[in-house]
Order: sequence, then structure tokens, then C-alpha cells
Amino acid sequence: MSILVTGGAGFIGSNLVRRLLAQRSETVVVLDALTYAGNLENLAGCVDGERCRFVKGSITDRTLVDATLVDHQVDVILHLAAESHVDRSIASAAPFIDTNVTGTLVMLEAARAHGVRRFVHVSTDEVYGSLGPNDAPFTERSPLDPSSPYSASKAASDHLVAAFVRTYRLDAVITRCSNNYGPFQFPEKFIPLMILNALEGRPLPIYGDGQQVRDWLHVDDHCDALILAMDRGAGGQVYNIGGFGERRNLDIARAILHQVGASEDLLTHVSDRPGHDRRYAIDPSKTQADLGWAPQWDVERGLVATIDWYRQHSDWCDHVRSGEYREYYQRHYHTTL
Ligand code: NAD
Ligand code: DAU
Repeated sequence: MSILVTGGAGFIGSNLVRRLLAQRSETVVVLDALTYAGNLENLAGCVDGERCRFVKGSITDRTLVDATLVDHQVDVILHLAAESHVDRSIASAAPFIDTNVTGTLVMLEAARAHGVRRFVHVSTDEVYGSLGPNDAPFTERSPLDPSSPYSASKAASDHLVAAFVRTYRLDAVITRCSNNYGPFQFPEKFIPLMILNALEGRPLPIYGDGQQVRDWLHVDDHCDALILAMDRGAGGQVYNIGGFGERRNLDIARAILHQVGASEDLLTHVSDRPGHDRRYAIDPSKTQADLGWAPQWDVERGLVATIDWYRQHSDWCDHVRSGEYREYYQRHYHTTL
């Protein structure tokens, strides 16, 4: 029996695969289309064709998904594959509907057809929309009120998962996590972009007034919660995952500049993101009580470790920014392992 990780060559997926291989004995199968966000260098040293197998392809391809579930005797699906960047969804929404909605439907139908024992749908706090400064954090009972094409597509996929639980009794759980940071995050996202620009003395683009608040969680803590949701979550339940890490964007950017020893003159206010959510905050008490989860990182320590990681992995950063990472698959994995 094996665990299938969709999107396992992305940021969170690759951290999760590494954790699964280190902590458990099951075979891990990665299904990933290797879009611009998928990078097999993130899985260097993991994929060996035995304990960890890689299948290149899209979750929208039902024939491939069926074959993957059968060939690798998949028992559990950890579903992370998605278009994940809000700004890209504002520029062009269609790929988000294709992968996040249609792709999730394909995964659900295939899971049902092949008797998959457990389906973990990895969603986001963005489905709840935006909070005011004095609002209580989102709970699992907060209404879905997405703002961007990205969050609307994730909310649609959450509804599909809930429908498969209710209609077909699929054993699925939904997790909704706050903003992640840590190793292997693609530098279009806020924290790695700020780190690399600060290290290179380039301007740090701050959308609008920079007073927006995000609830930052180290990716290791997210991965631990996903493994607990897989093992201990109750079918049909939603679990919010958040790190008590509310920080304003400007404060994060300043902390990075300070840590790197760069000047605050690099802070550059630019046009705001259309429909920009002002504040996210997660109440994770259900996940803590029911799954026995607790975050291990605080934001300050996690930021220092993450800055060190980007400093020490200049090859990875260079390959990502030059586009060289896209050739890694050709060089190392000509065939499906
Ligand atoms: P990412 O963009 O780094 O990785 C996404 C991965 O999915 C890539 O490897 C990409 O190649 C793959 N992919 C995209 N379309 C595909 C398709 N059609 N078929 C197969 N693979 C495809 O994303 P991430 O930040 O690692 O996020 C992973 C999941 O976690 C997403 O579902 C996202 O919504 C969710 N999430 C992310 C965060 C965050 O802060 N990054 C927080 C909460 C939830
Ligand atoms: O909350 C979970 C979500 O967090 C995930 O579901 C998404 O996949 C993930 O991308 C992330 O969404 P955000 O939009 O919050 O993350 P992003 O890194 O794009 O931006 C974080 C904040 O920083 C946000 O308020 C916008 C701002 N920002 C971002 C960029 C890229 C800037 O001010 N400047 C920038 O250049």
C-alpha cells in the first residue's frame, strides 16, 4: 500500500514527502505536472523508484490518475496539487479552475472508483475571506467568503469534497491552513521574494500600505498537522491549521532587512493587489484538541532559519530564477519511475 502526494514537487508537497519518508515506512508516490511551480530539485535524494516514486502528469488526466492509483496500490491520497498564487489568479483565472476545481473532481472520482481509504484535501484559510482588525480568528464554522479567483477555486474544491463525503460517503478530511514559509518556497511568494531581494540589495515591493496581516506558519508545522489529519482526522471533518503568527507585511519585511543587515530604504510601496484581503487569522483549537497538534516554530526563529536556508542554497535559487530547474526532469528522470 502507498501514499499518493499530488503536487509533491511543489513547496509544501516536497517538504511533506521528505517528512513522510523520514517518519514512516509506506511507499510514497508523487503525482505532479511540473508546472512552473513544480521543481524536482525540491525532491533531490528522495525519488529512487522504490520507496519514493515519481509520476509526471496532470491531476486533470483521469486515465493517468486511474493508472497511478492501480499501479502503485494507493491507499491514501494527500491532495496538494494546485495553482497556488493569488496574483497569477488575478492575471488569469482559467488555469485555477482547471487544476483546482476540475482536477480535484478527477481526484475525488478516481478515489471513489478505486476504493481509496482516506482522502486528505489540503485547502487554505483564504476560503474564509478577510477579517477586520478586531474580528475573532476564523473557526471551522466561519462562512466561506472567498475574494480572489484562487480562493474561489479552492472554496469550490472544498464544496466538492464535502459533497463526495455526504453523497458517496467518501472518507475525506479537509484542512485549511494559514500562510506557510520555509525551505523550497518559490520566490514569487512574499517571504522568499523579500529574502532574496534583501540579500541582493534590490527593492522590496510592498503592496499598498503594507498593513495587511497574515498568520505565518512554518511549513514543518503544516506538514505535521497534515500527517496527523491523515492518521487521526475524523471523516467529513474540517481542521483549521494556524500558528498564532499574525504579523503585518511591513513588519515581516523590516525583520528580514534587519536580519540580513540591509537598509529599510529598500522598502518600496507599489500598487495594491486588487481585492486584497486585509487580515487572516486562524483559530486552530479544534486541530489541537482533536489531533494533538501544536506548532513547534515561532515566527522570529522560523524567519532566521529560513533566511539561512536561502543563503545556503544559492544554487537552488539561481536555478529557479534562471529557469534551469525546468531541465532537471529531463536530465534525471526521462521515464516515469
Ligand atoms: P506550489 O505552487 O508550490 O506547488 C503546487 C504543485 O502542484 C507544483 O509542484 C505544481 O507542479 C503542481 N501542480 C500544479 N498543477 C498541477 C496539475 N494540474 N496536476 C498535477 N500537479 C500540478 O503550492 P504550495 O504553496 O506548495 O501549496 C500546496 C497546496 O497547499 C495547495 O493546494 C495550496 O492551495 C495549499 N496551501 C498553501 C499555503 C501556502 O501558504 N503556500 C497555505 C495553505 C494551503
Ligand atoms: O493564507 C494561505 C495562502 O497564503 C495560500 O493559500 C496561498 O497559496 C499562498 O500563496 C498565500 O497567499 P497570500 O496571497 O497571502 O501570499 P503571498 O505570499 O502572495 O502574499 C502575502 C502578503 O504579502 C499579501 O498580503 C500580499 C503581500 N505581498 C506579496 C507579494 C508577492 C506584497 O506586499 N508584495 C509582494 O511582492
